[in-house]
Amino acid sequence: MGLFSVGSGAPPVGLDIGTDHVRAAVLKPTSSGPVVVGYASAEMPMGAVVDGEIVDPQAVSSAIRELWRKPGIKGRDVVIGVSNQKVVVRLIDLPFMERDELQGAIQYQAQDYIPIPVEDAILDFQIIGDYMTPADEHMMEVLLVAAQRDMIESAVQAVEGAGLRLASVDVTSFAIVRATLGTSESVLPDEDESPGAAAAVIHIGSGLTNIAVVEKGVPRFTRVSSLSGNQFTQAVANVLNLTFDEAEHLKIRAGLPDIAADAHVAPQPGDEDGQRLQAAQDALEREVNKFIAEVRRSLDYYLTQTSQVRTIRRIHMTGSGAQLSHMTTYLEKGLQAEVVLSDPLRHVQVASSAEAAVTADRMGSAPAIGLAMGGVG
Ligand SMILES: Nc1ncnc2c1ncn2[C@@H]1O[C@H](COP(=O)(O)OP(=O)(O)OP(=O)(O)O)[C@@H](O)[C@H]1O
Ligand SMILES: [Mg+2]
Repeated sequence: MGLFSVGSGAPPVGLDIGTDHVRAAVLKPTSSGPVVVGYASAEMPMGAVVDGEIVDPQAVSSAIRELWRKPGIKGRDVVIGVSNQKVVVRLIDLPFMERDELQGAIQYQAQDYIPIPVEDAILDFQIIGDYMTPADEHMMEVLLVAAQRDMIESAVQAVEGAGLRLASVDVTSFAIVRATLGTSESVLPDEDESPGAAAAVIHIGSGLTNIAVVEKGVPRFTRVSSLSGNQFTQAVANVLNLTFDEAEHLKIRAGLPDIAADAHVAPQPGDEDGQRLQAAQDALEREVNKFIAEVRRSLDYYLTQTSQVRTIRRIHMTGSGAQLSHMTTYLEKGLQAEVVLSDPLRHVQVASSAEAAVTADRMGSAPAIGLAMGGVG
């Protein structure tokens, strides 16, 4: 599913426009599945993307142009992902109708479910399934996506400003789910698929965290939160009165304390570096506890909306921000679920020419890989 797409030949390049980085993934379909043949990332100038929205299309265009100068990145058509307050994803129940009929009716059906006036929105939907009610009414479940038109227009501007064409727009969390859990419906259902269980996918970037709940391969709930890598860094900067860049380095060096080994940093008197590390870990621990509360609220909300699923058994973590050391242990304890670091390259093959670039950014690659996977699928 994509918010819109225009036909073309070669599959579009997956282009992930983020707060700190812009990334491109080029996938080639083969009989044994998609192969990553090109991958690159470049820094995004500060302030060009804020809260998942492009605020400076020109600056974004030049960051994208830089990517297209790197080896292996070619092709004029791109697919981007959107993820911000101006995109809403809703699972709705409607009286059963055929796909074509819904295509014509969605405009009128959607307004009740979305906070954006339909005339200002680009809509897309996917029929998930149909069922009979106890009163014998034929109903269907529809995943509805609505994105504010002006937000999409900034993306078009940024992409075209780089000399490229926006072939389609996807929802970033759908792309992340695709990369981490795969697309094949033929694979044997694993534990996440047993009745009454769902999986969550959490991707931590610098400005945003994407949370999705997935049942039988279908994302049924998504939310974005601004509690993410930059907030962790800012918390360290605040307690120690450091610049953002200094705090960034210290954050990565300190990580969270190893609660499993009960190994909090215990600095000796006079050990200034040890004291700084300890203060950083304490600040990160407080932020991660806020983060856990936020994720719990999202998951609890989902569970109250659904009648069948009672547990979220496994949480798949991705994103550069998920590399904070001992993060998974904290989440596992706080959310009472199995938490695993998910490999975004698990469902693709990687050509040797792209290997170095993509493995250097492995955890950060999920959105770009997943966007490109959507384009080849
Ligand atoms: N080893 C690490 N430990 C902890 N955090 C890390 C590590 N490496 C990178 N990060 C964090 O990951 C974040 C950068 O993530 P990324 O580049 O994926 O964001 P982005 O895609 O540009 O932004 P967004 O998707 O939020 O708009 C930063 O906050 C950075 O501190
Ligand atoms: Mg990102």
